[in-house]
Amino acid sequence: AASPAANHENFLHCLSTSPAANVSKIVFYTPANPSYPSVLQFSIHNLRFNTSAAPKPIVIVTPQTTSHIQAAISCSHKHRLHLRVRGGGHDYEGLSYVASRPFFILDLINLSSVKVDVAARTAWIQAGATIGELYYQIGTQTTTLAFPAGVCPTVGVGGHFSGGGYGLSLRKFGLAADHIVDAHLVDVKGKVHNRASMGEDLFWAIRGGGGNTFGVVTAWKVNLLPVPENVTVFTVTKTIQQNATGIINRWQQVADRFPDDLFIRVILDRTETTTNSTATGRASFNSLYLGQAQSLLPLLQQLTWIRSILYFAGYPTDSPLEVLRSRVPLTRKRNFKAKSDYVTEPMSERALEGIWRRILRPDIEDPELIFSPYGGRMSEIPESSIPFPHRAGTRYKIQHLVYWEREGREATDRHVDWIRELYGYLAPHVSKNPRLAYVNYRDLDVGSNNGAGFTSNEEARVWGVKYFKGNYERLVRVKTAVDPRNFFRNEQSVPPLTAWK
Ligand code: FDA
Repeated sequence: AASPAANHENFLHCLSTSPAANVSKIVFYTPANPSYPSVLQFSIHNLRFNTSAAPKPIVIVTPQTTSHIQAAISCSHKHRLHLRVRGGGHDYEGLSYVASRPFFILDLINLSSVKVDVAARTAWIQAGATIGELYYQIGTQTTTLAFPAGVCPTVGVGGHFSGGGYGLSLRKFGLAADHIVDAHLVDVKGKVHNRASMGEDLFWAIRGGGGNTFGVVTAWKVNLLPVPENVTVFTVTKTIQQNATGIINRWQQVADRFPDDLFIRVILDRTETTTNSTATGRASFNSLYLGQAQSLLPLLQQLTWIRSILYFAGYPTDSPLEVLRSRVPLTRKRNFKAKSDYVTEPMSERALEGIWRRILRPDIEDPELIFSPYGGRMSEIPESSIPFPHRAGTRYKIQHLVYWEREGREATDRHVDWIRELYGYLAPHVSKNPRLAYVNYRDLDVGSNNGAGFTSNEEARVWGVKYFKGNYERLVRVKTAVDPRNFFRNEQSVPPLTAWK
């Protein structure tokens, strides 16, 4: 086999001499290019993987056209250089820009146009766009259409839609992936498909079956959803002293049964008490009501849907809409580790108190848990409609998060150990056999593929059924049919049944 250096030279030669390069220049960055570090780091959203020790790509290719993607796939085959696709770069485990073998990044950042058709209530979104760009394009053209995707505007549609994608209108409309009606995809042979030519199995699989598995999605077509001219937002905050635990307990009983228009999530974190500046637990009930509030409390704010996007993203609601287009997050980037859980039965106040004890540990920089209610539309969509399986029977989802800034091994270990211990503590109170998880909150602790070679179905099922339940088997069948040699892969991509070298 050629050395990595030789592979790299041959790969670049292959790209530069490909027929696509004759039509328009294929832009790529090697470590010799002064822009390489900034191009690499710009879309790294977890600083845990921005260390000098993290493996770096041999090349970053930034395609301008689909033909550039086809050329990159073809050269990757020829010179056996491993491929990682990057959309917005928000993968929690850095899988779009870190790999343990020599690799290149296909960074879709320049394929980011969004075309909204208000009359047809649809949008075509190129896979390198962010959800903020999508929101911006909708919000500048209409106040009565919306799209149900995530909260943070910098998240990329490439990975987000590939894993489901949810935000505050989940109870009313379901997931982003529930509203995809067409897609363009480049397959393992470099062929370009739309929904009709890829077939319903593959079209099913790419709407939630995880990124970097079935091909490179270059664009999504989605349906937009009607919302009233004005919606309502509010946040109510309670500390432990103000009975946060009792209110969360009550919330657990009812939040998935409210009318579909109402979504109240709870964010558990830490704050200082005003009386003696000691730390206490705080629960923020952060809410969207897709209707108008005539007689509600003064803390309710009525605004257009697009302004509610600003509210939940943390911007003042009178900010210029252009802030949604920025790929630079509002809050500084930090190290983080996250996990997820699904809850089917309310946990006791005692169990909640154990969460507070962990949140209040002073040596943990910034712990946070987010409880997001399900029910509503989510309970009506069948589990097998798309690969995302967490539907009826789910009361709420927990996202466990911990952020820290201190650098070095000790701080990383302390924070990662903290979240693992919390996860262990919660085991009796959440879904079991399997303990379910959300693929877009990627967590390699729940299992991973065999990095050294073939991954058997038994090995992959360990994590596969946690993310996909009964849909896992169908994903394996689709993968085996469309990519039997496992060209598109990462530590948690669904592997084919076929052996490969
Ligand atoms: P990234 O580029 O890292 O891609 C993620 C995965 O998809 C990788 O495996 C990548 O190879 C693959 N991929 C990307 N583009 C592809 C393409 N075109 N074709 C094939 N494969 C592709 N989630 C949520 O549901 N609701 C929310 O509100 C939020 N909020 C949020 C905030 C912040 C700050 C972060 C860091 C993350 C979230 N998420 C989220 C999670 C988010 O949905 C998840 O990380 C997505 O996979 C991110 O997609 P990106 O394209 O940004 O990431």
